[in-house]
Amino acid sequence: MKDVVADLELVFVVNKKLDHKWVKDRDNLAKLNFKGEAEESALLPEGGRLYVGIESMSHDDLRIACAETIRALISKNFKTIKLGMYFAKSEFEGVGAIVEGCILGEYNFSKYKSKHAKTVLHKIFICCDDYSGRKINFKNAQLALKQSEIIAKNVNFVRDIVNQTPKDITPLTMSKIAKDLSKQTRLSLKIFGEKYIKEKGMGAMHAVSLASPYPPQLIHLIHKPKNAQRKIVLVGKGLTYDTGGLSLKPSDAMLTMKMDKAGGCVIFGVMKTIAELNLPIEVHGIVGAVENAIGKHAYKPDDVLRAKNSKTIEIKNTDAEGRLVLADCLCYGQELKPDIIIDIATLTGACIVALGEYTIGVMGHSQELKSMIHKSAERSGELTGDLPFNRYLPKLIKSKIADVANVSSGKWGGAITAGLFLSEFISDEYKDKWAHLDIAGPSFADNAWGENPIGASGSGLRLLVDYLCTLSKK
Ligand code: BES
Ligand code: ZN
Ligand code: ZN
Repeated sequence: MKDVVADLELVFVVNKKLDHKWVKDRDNLAKLNFKGEAEESALLPEGGRLYVGIESMSHDDLRIACAETIRALISKNFKTIKLGMYFAKSEFEGVGAIVEGCILGEYNFSKYKSKHAKTVLHKIFICCDDYSGRKINFKNAQLALKQSEIIAKNVNFVRDIVNQTPKDITPLTMSKIAKDLSKQTRLSLKIFGEKYIKEKGMGAMHAVSLASPYPPQLIHLIHKPKNAQRKIVLVGKGLTYDTGGLSLKPSDAMLTMKMDKAGGCVIFGVMKTIAELNLPIEVHGIVGAVENAIGKHAYKPDDVLRAKNSKTIEIKNTDAEGRLVLADCLCYGQELKPDIIIDIATLTGACIVALGEYTIGVMGHSQELKSMIHKSAERSGELTGDLPFNRYLPKLIKSKIADVANVSSGKWGGAITAGLFLSEFISDEYKDKWAHLDIAGPSFADNAWGENPIGASGSGLRLLVDYLCTLSKK
């Protein structure tokens, strides 16, 4: 640490321990009344040190503290920063969290600003000194650095797409993004347009697209390494805009609905990540890219649609469109005969009511799969909550004139009844091999939170990548 020259040294004060050997400016800190509480910081420019309070050395605390610190420093004039390596459980976790925090915290979306904020900060040194009497394993630290850098940069890649306007990101641009991805990586790609979707009986997805000037796109990215032991299908809701359709959303609720493509964008980010990490499992990323608009061709409440698995759907509300797109994409995904199929979607406002705005809702019939997903969330610093199915709720999506209705006849449990609607399009063979992630809450925010900025967060990417990495090790 001593040998590294930087404009500023970042010192974490863990759990208010101001007597730690790394805290060198105790008198000045006392004058500033700095106690080292979580989220408290003290900048001592003469000494070239920034002290930041942190509750523990858990990967969550480290990631968030780094992100908040970088966010605060980005407008300052420090070119280089150094910080000591703090062990979490392992150097792998510690370095990973620091790298993720810095890259995620540095994110700023300025595409639509005439003046781009410039930062002079261009280097952060993570110094791997001996800490707590343990020697650091440099190989592990470097591996963590590389892996977390890829993951965090790809979270920012997802944020960049989600944050763009419905004018800039249409179903056709989603296809263009996928094409660029397959050129840059070794991912292969299939794109199907309106003709295919209609011909293959994907009547639910097709109907949602009818009022839009942009044709629906079924985007299928493939990562297929040699001798892969497992096959996973991921499906994302890519609604490039959700007006609600003829069941039009009120103005306030419509605002931010550019974020309704977040699930699809996360699939792009996950596929890019696993290609760059070269994971030894076969993964298929399917994105249903559609715009839910209004117009003379719009599908209507009272319509009855037929999905790819031949089930008929009574439309009671055209704003429950994501589940229609996913229904057909899930049918398509199961035909690939994967071991596991997971979908991710900004599916319901009810999920935000149930779990709050920071938490991903996890649904499915398999406790084992759900528990693996919760564990991946914990490891990767995302928040998940279980929304359990039960024997009573399926009755709420019964239809008098079709096989199933697209919204519940009851008032409560809307996130779960949406999950149960999707379950109608999961064959018996796949019931226990499927999970549904509702990211309506955490994908987009009005205020920065933790390592996430205002706007798109890229929620779900780290969780899914961790899950796929875990499968790769098994
Ligand atoms: N895209 C929305 C869900 C949503 C709401 C995402 C708020 C993020 C923030 C979805 O298509 C939708 O409109 N769902 C309806 C379902 C209702 C009509 C049964 C909802 O949640 O209100
Ligand atoms: Zn909707
Ligand atoms: Zn939607």
